[in-house]
Amino acid sequence: MEKKADIAVIGLAVMGQNLILNMNDHGYTVVAFNRTVSKVDDFLKNAAKGTNVIGAHSIEEMVSLLKVPRKVMLMVKAGDPVDAEIQKLLKYLSPGDCIIDGGNSHFTDTIRRTKYLEENGILYIGAGVSGGEEGARRGPSIMPGGNEKAWPLVKDIFKAISAKTPDGVPCCDWVGSDGAGHYVKMAHNAIEYGDIQVICEAYHLMKLGLGLSADQMHQIFAEWNTTELNSYLIEITRDILAYKDDDGEPLVEKILDKAGQKGTGKWFIVNSLDLGIPVTLISESVYARCLSALKEERIKASEVLKGPVTHFKGDAKGLVEDIRKALLASKIISYTQGFMCLHEAAKEYGWDLDYGNIALLWRNGCIIRSAFLDKIKNAYEKNPKLSNLLLDDYFREVIDDCQASWRKVIMTAVELGIPMPSFSSALAFFDGYRCAKLPVNLLQAMRDYFGAHTYKRIDAPADQVFHTNWTGRGGDVASGTYTV
Ligand code: 6PG
Repeated sequence: MEKKADIAVIGLAVMGQNLILNMNDHGYTVVAFNRTVSKVDDFLKNAAKGTNVIGAHSIEEMVSLLKVPRKVMLMVKAGDPVDAEIQKLLKYLSPGDCIIDGGNSHFTDTIRRTKYLEENGILYIGAGVSGGEEGARRGPSIMPGGNEKAWPLVKDIFKAISAKTPDGVPCCDWVGSDGAGHYVKMAHNAIEYGDIQVICEAYHLMKLGLGLSADQMHQIFAEWNTTELNSYLIEITRDILAYKDDDGEPLVEKILDKAGQKGTGKWFIVNSLDLGIPVTLISESVYARCLSALKEERIKASEVLKGPVTHFKGDAKGLVEDIRKALLASKIISYTQGFMCLHEAAKEYGWDLDYGNIALLWRNGCIIRSAFLDKIKNAYEKNPKLSNLLLDDYFREVIDDCQASWRKVIMTAVELGIPMPSFSSALAFFDGYRCAKLPVNLLQAMRDYFGAHTYKRIDAPADQVFHTNWTGRGGDVASGTYTV
């Protein structure tokens, strides 16, 4: 009898191919399929040569090769291609079979698809998969959510192929219903945007303000990687700074300063506005890419818009240590804001998220993997009801220790005219969050003055609203109150 496979993967781009090879390494038999069928043969002749991977040349054939209940993982581009593949699969799958979307899908699409497929008797999982090519091959972080009945079907495979924490715990666990897995992946990517941007701002200040060379900064990042900042992104920054082009010059300095994005950071900001959560550092990180994309305009502006001289005169070594501390403090704000969104999303979409466990999923395998995530896990373990990371003792103490440096770095950057939008917005958030009274009393007064939008008083019951006829000329009719 022909051997039946454990799982099928559709989509043989980088992530799909590497996940298949990873599953094969762990003893699973995988059927590989791709819309452009010639890619299947190429894969079998090259990367999958000598493995147990089976090639299929049609969806019908692929489905016929699977053990029941069938498990089919989609590794295709997010958006319409996912819906198109689902429609094709529905012709051949039977009730109880399972489809997993391992791409960067928008969580609202995953909510819709989970419901639609449930109505068709098919179990659906939207799984965030992080770690790039290397992660997919050697162990990614996997964030599955969707129809919970599907979890036992794929749990063993996913846990086996995932990255493990230093204690050997798989960086893969069930996240929650419908779109929860893809939401957590979107939050991961948003934090990734923040982590990348704060590193770039630190580099910019050291390069322009202190005039440090790539080699000198390589040493600094190597040192920072032995501190609380120890992480994959600091590690690759260290290595990038040491990398030389063919002429012996640092390659990084020859790379065009214009960044693109694939959308997950933008989705997160849009969602944060829907939820009313101020993810200011992450927003600045996304906008920093938008500003970078205006390269031609920036070149013209640089010729006419003058700023201060950008060289720091003072204790350079001391400033480097201040930058390290400011980076750590800003990073704490980034994760704080990311987790604030997770808390609010859980309420809004009815997910029972385990925040400590989410930190554990990101501990290894993914792009934001770092020692720092242990501290987040500990914070939620100590207090599962922790409302905000900044209120945890460890993070409060680190911020206390870093605060003076954080302020000094931002003041220096302002004086030198070097943009540090994510560092600065992080500090502004911190100062706003710890402010028991904001100047919004005046804002409310203005809204009531020009639009009769009403206000509440500190000396009256919370449900009572007031309107003042500020000029004596307006009427006494107040506008209705509502919040978008
Ligand atoms: C990962 C990454 C990956 C993501 C990009 C973001 O976790 O492996 O997050 O999934 O697509 O890194 O890409 P952009 O920077 O192009 O938006």
